[in-house]
Formats: sequence, structure tokens, C-alpha cells
Amino acid sequence: MLPAGYFTVKEHEFKKCRQSGFCVRQRAYSDLVDLKKEPTPYKILRETVSVQKDNGVLTCEVLNQLSNIKYNFKLEALENQTVRIRLEEKDPKKKQYASVGNFSLVEEPKSTPFKTYVKAKSETEFSILEFGKNAKMLLQENPLLLTLKVNEVSVFTFNEKGYLHYEHHREKATVKNSEEPALKNEDSPGMEEVLAEELSEKEKLEKELKEKLEFGMWEESFEGNTDSKKYGIPEHASSFNLKNTRGNDVAYSEPYRLYNFDVFEYILDSPMGLYGSIPFMMGHKKGNTVGMFWMNSAEMWVDIEREVELKTRAKQTVTHWSAESGILDLFVMLGPTPREVSSQYTSLTGKPALPQLFAIAYHQCRWNYNDEADVKEVNAKFDEYEIPYDVLWLDIEHTDGKKYFTWDEVKFPTPQEMQNNLAKTGRKMVTIIDPHLKKDDNYYVSKEAKALDLFVKNKDGGDFEGWCWPGNSQWLDYTDPKARKFWAEQFKFESYKGSTSSLYTWNDMNEPSVFSGPETTMPKDNIHYEGWEHRDVHNVYGMLQQRATFEGHLLRSSNLDRPFVLSRAFFLGTQRYGAIWTGDNFAKWDHMEASVPMLLTIGVSGVTFSGADVGGFFGNPDPLLLLRWYQLAAFQPFFRAHAHIDTKRREPWIFGEPYTTLIRNAIRSRYRILPYLYTLNFEANLHGWPVMRPMMYEFPEDYFVYDMGDQYMLGDTILVKAVVNETSPSVKVYLPQGKWYDYTEFNAIDRPKDGLINYDTPTDKIPIFLRGGSILTRRERMRRSSSLMKRDPYTFYIALDDLELASGKIYTDDGHTFNHLKGSYIYSEFEFKINGNSGKLSSKNLLVKEFGASKVTKNYFKNQDVDFGGRLERIVIFGFKKPNFKLVEVKVENKILSFKKEKNEVFVIKDPAVFIGEEWEISFKFE
Ligand code: GLC
Repeated sequence: MLPAGYFTVKEHEFKKCRQSGFCVRQRAYSDLVDLKKEPTPYKILRETVSVQKDNGVLTCEVLNQLSNIKYNFKLEALENQTVRIRLEEKDPKKKQYASVGNFSLVEEPKSTPFKTYVKAKSETEFSILEFGKNAKMLLQENPLLLTLKVNEVSVFTFNEKGYLHYEHHREKATVKNSEEPALKNEDSPGMEEVLAEELSEKEKLEKELKEKLEFGMWEESFEGNTDSKKYGIPEHASSFNLKNTRGNDVAYSEPYRLYNFDVFEYILDSPMGLYGSIPFMMGHKKGNTVGMFWMNSAEMWVDIEREVELKTRAKQTVTHWSAESGILDLFVMLGPTPREVSSQYTSLTGKPALPQLFAIAYHQCRWNYNDEADVKEVNAKFDEYEIPYDVLWLDIEHTDGKKYFTWDEVKFPTPQEMQNNLAKTGRKMVTIIDPHLKKDDNYYVSKEAKALDLFVKNKDGGDFEGWCWPGNSQWLDYTDPKARKFWAEQFKFESYKGSTSSLYTWNDMNEPSVFSGPETTMPKDNIHYEGWEHRDVHNVYGMLQQRATFEGHLLRSSNLDRPFVLSRAFFLGTQRYGAIWTGDNFAKWDHMEASVPMLLTIGVSGVTFSGADVGGFFGNPDPLLLLRWYQLAAFQPFFRAHAHIDTKRREPWIFGEPYTTLIRNAIRSRYRILPYLYTLNFEANLHGWPVMRPMMYEFPEDYFVYDMGDQYMLGDTILVKAVVNETSPSVKVYLPQGKWYDYTEFNAIDRPKDGLINYDTPTDKIPIFLRGGSILTRRERMRRSSSLMKRDPYTFYIALDDLELASGKIYTDDGHTFNHLKGSYIYSEFEFKINGNSGKLSSKNLLVKEFGASKVTKNYFKNQDVDFGGRLERIVIFGFKKPNFKLVEVKVENKILSFKKEKNEVFVIKDPAVFIGEEWEISFKFE
């Protein structure tokens, strides 16, 4: 089981800034800059400036006037309102890692011409380079300063405060570059404390700070006359709006850390690093959203400081970034809306993969389902209690001695039969496949990997060994293309004995988690492909395992079946390979609460398919917590229950009534919205828009929602508020301007002026609202799994807005192949309008440029190639302005449709029998 001492969170086992050499040095540098108020020593060497106007590229050399070190600087205007800023040492003594773009970018980004280039007359004036849509770069040579403007508004500045400090490589004898203060006991004083105690006078401080300078950082800021908010840089168990770590009003004394870790029982409200790292940030203020990422896979620390500009009293947010190694390679996406930022960002780092339909349904996991009899029984119980589910998961105990790709022959003697039994009702299985390979000459995967020399090396060149679940283990070097190919091949049916086409994969412990390593991971001086140190590639490691697994799934199905891989570690670009979850949370109310801002942050950072363990991994939830968690997670992107091996069983029926019924209802509510969720996942795939969206994302002009991390939008239609309190009978919900309906009763909500309502939360309800003006498409027939629903008819829920208008979209396809790329899909838009005494509901086909025109034509349901249904069986419409509005006739073509009026002015039209992939009109007559 778990190694001794692995049971409690040990914050002190993880470094603080004061224990990380480069973090100390960077903070010291910025303190010194603030103290001395001298300009940055970096300047552009005027004579080296070269501008290729047609390519939108400016190159030059930058000089640090203090160290006399030169840097190459490259400024590019990219397509889609994006700017790339690259700074690297000109003649480094040691090569700097600059290739993570091979993994994080889909392709080398294309540049766009500068529309105009006006060269500065002197080095203290600004050169102006115009590009894209009303975008401009203003570049000052001495001191080096870059400002980006959109529509004449300054939205981003680089090195305004002069914190840029690019540490050039020096030999160890002269600098303690890679030496870091050892981890200290919590109570022993760190550098900062010593500093604070001893140094009162400016000179002393200056002297001290100077001694600490070694590494580089820059600062960037968002200007404006409203407080600009910052979101992103997952993964932290923290708020959605990033907190201050420097300056006044400091919430965290530590910067946010980005270094993938296996943090056992993580603490809440902390900037400590967790399993994944995405160096992406979104800045938002009224009228403007900007995104940026630093493409670098080394350890990073990010300080956040909100400050008030004295002259104008405007607030601006300054962020200070620092990385331990690599180069400065920065992308700034100019928006100006959150949706545009997502789309610009994912054009570079990749669109989220379109999941299979089953993957967005409900997953049942625990550590462990013990044997085949257990699996059979759990599966049967779901049917007995009429609870739909799609996937049963097997954790590490299913293997022969934690050797992945093997089965415990006693507990799982007939794995194929077991999977085939599940597959009969459309259900799948997932097995865990971790990256640590047991060091064992009789384990075929290890043996072959060793023969092919595919393991990560230790600093002395031998295969690195460390401790993980199986005991002594070794790790494939996924940065090596040969290792990724080898790994992918392991998933072929002939290699992975006992696997079938309904078996998918869970990649855990891929930070990588090394129980015996520093901070439970690999030593930074381990060696990877082409000689790079682990410190250079640490944060991308886990993503590359998930990628190789994804490629393995493609390989085994000859590119016919869409992969499904869940990963714990993640990085820039992860969205292309599957889902992630937030790791080992706790069965506590505050952990459920924390899952919301965590998932929102991960979503705006590009990873749109994510979830948290329902019920909490550690500990035993009481039935109410478990129920509330199901009710919440049913409206989150990845929906999986999971539990630690030492916890009590807690499958949906374990607590008995009323909980079984209530949990069943929650899971069924998930299955009803699968068509809508699938459409959202498709729109994520197309544009990069998050599935689970922060309120600010949908209401970017409403200042009141900017900090909100406890309620969110599922797509643009459904508003969800978490119930995170055991006792309170109601919760406060904020409804932005517009019309809103209760999700279950379709009652229009009486929205007070301030938008704040108290909503009663009896156990069968959590606050969920339908946005007026939308058409939500659901499937109402309950089946055992999602794939058994794929030919079922649809119901429209038309929620009118104040103008009695509504619209909505639906995307569908066969839910598992890539045939949609060849036109086998439906993407339609529906619109409802009223004009005088008549109304019209119309359907229009939409073209997905990327997939080509839809081949799903009028008689598509007879077409053998199309493996899905599309009949509309019911229309529910509500929100007419006049009370007692009388609907007298509903017609499609010449056919009169029957309808009835239910309570709350809800009209139900029966069996319009039209198909969602066709174009039609349904007319309504009123009196
Ligand atoms: C890690 C995972 C957890 C899993 C366990 C055993 O703690 O985060 O989900 O159950 O390992 O594999």
C-alpha cells in the first residue's frame, strides 16, 4: 500500500519560495528595482533592429548594460490578434531548452504582416508597429519597454516596472545556479525572514538583495481604469480570481507555484503547486480580455500584485513570472472577448479533442473493484436500481503486482469476457496504466523498454530508479519519440493481453510521482532525450504520457475510434489528448466547494474536459455530502465517482432511501442533457470555449461577476450554483441582467434589481437556472447507458427572453468515430420568434467548415452510414409575456400538431416528428 508517512499533508515537504534559489533571487531583484527606482539595464541595440514588414517580424539584439550580456529579441505579429515575444541569450555557455513548442503548439504559428512600421527617431521614443485588427505594438529601445494596444487602449505592457532579469548561464564555481537552499523545517527562519529581521537600512537591504541575484524574471501588467482581474495558471486549490502575493493586501505570502506534484491530501486556499501546470493567464476588465502564456516547461513561480497608479487612481495588476530554465517565449492573445482569447489560445496550443459520447456520461470508479464477481455485481446493481452509467473503472489492484498491461489472474481471470459483458449494454471499462514500470526482468514491458534504452537517466547516465506503487521502478522518457512509439504500441490488442475495443485508459502518477524523490518527484538533474535535464521538461512529462496513450488508442483502432485517456498531470496543450481530474481530494464540504473555482480555472486555461472525484477521494462522505456532490458534478464536464481503498463502499444505492432515489435523479439529469453537453464539447473542439464557464466569460460586462468562483455557466444556457453547506436551507444566487427560469419547474424568476435571490435548497434541488432566450435540447428516455440512447428522440425546451425570442444549437454525430470529419454530423440552429399573433420555430443547418458540408441529408435516418437518430418528439415552450396567452394552433407544413397547456404557462407540443438535421418551420398561432 502507501509508503509509511505518506498519509498526511506535509506542506513543509514542498518548497516555499524562500527555499527555491531562483525564486528568492527573482523576488530580491524586483525588490531592489523598487528600492533603487533605477531604469532597467536592458536596452535594444539600435543598429541591430531589423524589421520584415511583410512577415510581421522584428528582430534585434538586447544588451544588459550591467552584465554586458547580449540577447536575441524577436517580436512577431501572429495571425488571430496574437503577439509572440522571444528573448534568449545570444551566446549561451550552455544550451537553453527552447523546444517545448514541439509538444505544446499544434504547428509553428503563422505571422501576419505589419500594416505600418514607424521607426522611433531616438532610442527613448517608441517605434510603432500596427497589425491585425486595430492592434499596435509600441517598442521603446532604451530602456526596453513594450506596450500592446488594441483600439488605442493599452492592454498589456512588458517590463514596465523593469523587473526583467534574464539570468545568463555561468559556471557553478562562480554562481550557485542550480544550488538551492535545502528544504527547511517550517520553524527555521527562511531567507526572507532573516532579511526582514536584519535589514532596516536601505543600503543594507540593497547589499543583501544584490547578493541574492542570479535568475531572470520579467513583469507584465494590464493597465486600465477599472481593476483588471487575473485568472488562470492552474493548478492550485484556490479562488478563481487570482489573489495578491505581493504589495498591499497580500493574501498569500508565497507566489503561485507551477510544478507538477503528487501532493498528498492537498490543502485548500493555497498557491502550492499541484498535479498540473499551465502557464496561461487571462486578464479581464470591462471591454477587454487578454490572454498570455509563457511556453516553458520548467518550474515557475508567479507573483500577483494589484496596485493603484497614483496619478490616475487607476488600478492595474502586475504579474511577475519566473522560470528556472529555458528561454523567454511569450504569447499574448489580444481578444478582445473571453471567447476570442480562448479561440486564439487554442489555435496555438490545440483544440480540445472531441470526446466520445460515453466519456461525458457517468463513470463509476473506486480503488478498487476487487474482482470479476465484484464488477458483475456492481454492474447488475446499477440495472437493479435503474441508474444509468457508462464506465466501470479498475484501479491498480487489478494488475499482477502493479505491472501495468497485466491482470491479476486470480481476481481477473477472464478480462475479455468481463469487458464484453459490460459492452452488451453499451458500457465500457477503464484500466489504470501508470508511467512507473516495475523493475523486474520478468516484466515484458520493462524488459523491452530497457533493451531499447528508453528510460529516463539519472545524472550519472544510468537508468533512473525510484520508488512507486510496484516498489523499485523506472520511467519511460516520453520526451523521446521512440519511447512514445513504444508506449503507443503497448495498447495494440495483441500486446495488451486481455484488452478489448471497449477498454480505455487512465494515466495516473504522471507528474511523475516518485515516492523516494525530492518533493515526491524526479530529481531535477535526471537526464532526458537529447541530454536535457529533467528540470527543463518536468511540467510537460505527464502530458506526453497521455499523448502516447492517446496515440496508442488510435493505433489499436487504425484511427477509427476516438481515444479516451484520463490524466492527472497536465500542461499547455493537454486538451488535445483527453480529460484530467483534480486528483486526491477529500470527502469534505470545502473540497467540493473548491472543485468549482479549480475546474473553472482549468477550463479557461484550455483544458475543457475536467472533473473532481465525486464524493471526495479520501474519507467517508455522509450521505448528504455525497448527494450534493452528485447533484453538482452532474453539471460539470467530467463526471466520475471515485474513492480511496480504505473508504467504505458508497455506490449510489449504498445509503438507501431517500438517497438512492435522489442520486439516481442527479445521474439521470446528466443523461438528459447529454445532447447539450455533447454540443458544448463540440464547440470546445471547434473554438476552445470552456464547457464549464466562469460567469465573467458569459457576462464580461457585468463587473459584479468578475470574482465569482462559486457559481458558473454550463455553456451559455444553464447557470449552476453549488450547495456547499450542510445546514443552510437556502442559498444566495446572483442572476445577471435578463430573464431566468427555474430549471425544473420552468417558473420565470422574479429578478430583483440587484439580481440577488434566495433560493430554497431542499435535498432534491440545487440551484440551477435556464437562461431566457435559449433553446435547450434534451433526451428524456432513460436507458442503461449513453450509447443505448443515441437513436432516441429529442425534446426542445424553449425559454423565451423578454422579447419572446429564443435560439439554440445542437451538434451530433455517431458519438465514437471520426466520421464527422467526413461530413457525418448534424449541426443545426433553431430560432423561435413571435410576430403579432403568430410565432415561428425554424431549423437551419450550419456548416462546420473544418468538417466539410454535412452529408446527413433528408433521408439520413435510412442511411446505413449514419449511426444516430434525430427525431424531435416534443417541444416545451414557456415565458410568454401576456398571462393566459392562448395558443390556438401549431402546424408543421400542413400537419396540425396537438399541444396542451400545463401549469405555469408552459406549453407542450406533441410529436412534431421533424428531424433536427433538416430545415423546417413550425408555425404557432395565438389569440
Ligand atoms: C493516486 C490517484 C488515485 C488512485 C490511487 C491508486 O492516489 O490520484 O486516484 O486511486 O493513486 O492508484
